Amino acid sequence: MFRSHTCGELRPEHAGQEVTLAGWLHRRRDHGGLIFIDLRDRYGLTQLVVDPATDAQAHAIASEARSEYVLQVRGVVNKRPDDAVNPRLATGGIEVRASSVSVLNPAKTPPIYIATDGGEEESLRLKYRYLDLRREHMQQTIILRHRIIKFMRDFLDQEGFLEIETPIMMKSTPEGARDYLVPSRLHPGEFYALPQSPQQLKQLLMVAGYDKYFQIARCFRDEDLRADRQPEFTQLDLEMSFIDQNDILDVVERLMTALIQTVTPHKRIQSPFPRLTYAEAMERYGSDKPDLRYGLELVTVNEIVRESQFGVFTGAIAEGGKVQAMRLPGCAGYSRKQLDELQDIARIGGAKGMAWMAFEADGNLRSPIAKFLTEEQIAALHQATAAEPGDLLVFVADRPAVVAASLDKVRREMGKRLNLTDPDAIIFAWVVDFPMFEWNAEIQQYDAMHHPFCMVNPADVEKLMRNDLADVRAAAYDLVANGYELASGSIRIYQREIQQRIFDRLPYTPEEIQQRFGHMLEAFEYGAPPHGGMAPGIDRIVMLLSDTDNIRDVIAFPKTQRAEDLMMGAPSPVDERQLKELKLALRT
Ligand code: AMO
Ligand code: AMP
Repeated sequence: MFRSHTCGELRPEHAGQEVTLAGWLHRRRDHGGLIFIDLRDRYGLTQLVVDPATDAQAHAIASEARSEYVLQVRGVVNKRPDDAVNPRLATGGIEVRASSVSVLNPAKTPPIYIATDGGEEESLRLKYRYLDLRREHMQQTIILRHRIIKFMRDFLDQEGFLEIETPIMMKSTPEGARDYLVPSRLHPGEFYALPQSPQQLKQLLMVAGYDKYFQIARCFRDEDLRADRQPEFTQLDLEMSFIDQNDILDVVERLMTALIQTVTPHKRIQSPFPRLTYAEAMERYGSDKPDLRYGLELVTVNEIVRESQFGVFTGAIAEGGKVQAMRLPGCAGYSRKQLDELQDIARIGGAKGMAWMAFEADGNLRSPIAKFLTEEQIAALHQATAAEPGDLLVFVADRPAVVAASLDKVRREMGKRLNLTDPDAIIFAWVVDFPMFEWNAEIQQYDAMHHPFCMVNPADVEKLMRNDLADVRAAAYDLVANGYELASGSIRIYQREIQQRIFDRLPYTPEEIQQRFGHMLEAFEYGAPPHGGMAPGIDRIVMLLSDTDNIRDVIAFPKTQRAEDLMMGAPSPVDERQLKELKLALRT
């Protein structure tokens, strides 16, 4: 028997028992005579006391033991005297008087300190991830992740969903990123693609009659990485037949609500989740994933400034653009430097500048653009933005997409600066009626915004037929919370002709369509039911619930921003022999 108890288990009621513990040496304090050791495993810490007077041999070993040695300890549980109780430790009411200590395995001096929560370079943490994962906050996150996934499985099982695995070696499924390819030895010159999502397979499962499917699905996307993106990540992928959009939103809303109430009951959520159309979200927040913990709404002021003397505003409007303002409460005192900083943030979103107007607390108006505006125009701006004395207005004029991107950046920054981002409040919203198509400037053509399998909003079919693609909406929806896109989904096309009509408008040749999607089109001819689904990103849900904005913190073995695994050393070169077998030659 290696251990009778874990290091998190013993309490005063165990006093007098002889126990055996095993774990890592977390901390050791040598008081000349007595040695105190905190022994650690994933359940907690237990304080050991080794007394040279009574247990000389145990003491000799304890004095040699160093951080992260793996120890096995036998001893008797003692209740601590009242003044020695440690209320911050679950086992703080006891200590174990060690009569025997053995070293199961020594450890070199670790390159990172487990007992601290590390200010070291992240690359060091990733190289020694197995040490980093010993840390309490990492273990808490990994345990939370387990609970979240377990909860999802149980919930969906209760709702009658079946968990069905789909292959990793697959054919390309477009989700807008590059594929990871796997060369085939048996078919030289041919490749599998790792799935960007199980999208096509889950739809084919609907055709197969499995009307409620889910999977904890690994997805692979070769794309530029960000703080909330990994090249491989995990979705709670789900799909249902004989449902409409409300049925899907309902299941996911109930799942998310129950999940948070169960695994992180200290988080405050609002229900029901409000619904915004994509157009509303863009107009009011400049983003399709707005942080709704705070207002800071954008206000379009075209009608107020259209007749002004400010060329930047009138020019943008004349070119079909818009002018939006945002009110920043209490910021009228911003210095030149602070305003320049904000302008730089707006510029990241593409703005050429950012005009401002400060309604100072003493009633004075300070603004570089006041001279271009009439008193009536200024009063109208004041009113439209509900500005109060002490508030600052900032303005961006440009194409709508640039105004949105720029003010979204400023809004997020100000949400943080004004302390409006309470991490214990999780404010969900549904964003619905996404556009079906999106202009791809690189190829100068429209492409699917979500993916090509989304049903077109019935009200917009005529526009589709007229090729007014910019205005065609899809039955596609996202779940957002606190500024993150947590989930995406849509009602799908299930009729061959309609699917063909969408493909025809996308940048694929008829041969490509046949080669890539022929199997889908064919399947739709064998009795495909109406269906739809959604895929919450599990990594992002864990991020939100564990209060981190770094996706690497919620994945046991993540990749760096450059898609490397620093611990294993991947990617890595392969043997010439392997390349030969695959009939591959490297091009440089
Ligand atoms: P989508 O591509 O929007 O939809 O992905 C769904 C959700 O997955 C998460 N996500 C990511 N998380 C971490 N790293 C990434 N690189 C990454 N990319 C996406 C996000 C996102 O909301 N098949 C469709 C879903 C459907 O239509 O049912 C799909 O994959 O949280
Ligand atoms: P300028 O006339 O270029 O000195 O600009 C006067 C003010 O307008 C400055 O505060 C600029 O930051 C601001 N400005 C310039 N371009 C834009 C724009 N596209 N949208 C909003 N404000 C702008």
